[in-house]
Amino acid sequence: MTAGAFPTAGARPTVIPIVALDVPDRAGAEAIVERLGESCAFYKVGLELFAAEGPTIVAWLRGQGKQVFVDLKLHDIPNTVRGAARSVARHGASLLTIHASGGAEMIAAAVAGALEGAPDGGCGILGVTVLTSTDGHGLAAAWGRSGPLDVQQEVLRLAGDVAEQGGAGIVCSGHEAAVVRAAHGERLGLLIPGIRLPGGDAHDQRRVMTPAAAADAGARWLILGRAVTGAADPVAAMGAVYADLEARAV
Ligand code: C5P
Repeated sequence: MTAGAFPTAGARPTVIPIVALDVPDRAGAEAIVERLGESCAFYKVGLELFAAEGPTIVAWLRGQGKQVFVDLKLHDIPNTVRGAARSVARHGASLLTIHASGGAEMIAAAVAGALEGAPDGGCGILGVTVLTSTDGHGLAAAWGRSGPLDVQQEVLRLAGDVAEQGGAGIVCSGHEAAVVRAAHGERLGLLIPGIRLPGGDAHDQRRVMTPAAAADAGARWLILGRAVTGAADPVAAMGAVYADLEARAV
């Protein structure tokens, strides 16, 4: 696929690739965005880049015509989360993460704040359920419970809270996607990290999936990190992502 053949704003694929700007500063972000050009329309700004550059990085990306996922994983009292979500939405973010374990009231406050900041509903709230760095033992220890907790059950319970409070979706591993989809149907959009091109390096991710497999599992958004930004030819890697998704559609 040539750069000119990448899907444009008028013809977006139903599964949307988002490239993670896992860099320490704006110069690093600019290098990736410039390199990818039209091949990527949606970027993730995480804690590292946001802490370094603040919301000006969101404004800069919006100025480049890009959509922005602000991955701050908020978890605080409802009033504070509401204000933060309002501010992030005002800066033009399309997606913002919160920890679903903050409770139903906090999730509802995030959804309300995002609507105040973007009254057209342009900023969706995504819930992080159980971090993939945590297992059943870690969950039990953190919450003062005996014995390992059933991680899948916790993911489903927290996903239910996000759906009930009007969240746009959840972040989950491709391997949890089918069970979330079965429990919640289309109510929640699934954002799936750990994506690798067929035959690609897994890096430090234990459980990876191809774009097509994640799409088949029900993904609405895919997070692409090193599979694209670490590739010798990142534009060709994006082309391979779209090709993998398209091959599945025919
Ligand atoms: O594809 P790669 O492993 O480089 O992507 C890492 C990106 O995906 C990071 O931005 C990271 O925060 C995000 N992520 C992840 N695993 C999760 C949730 C998010 O790798 N469970």
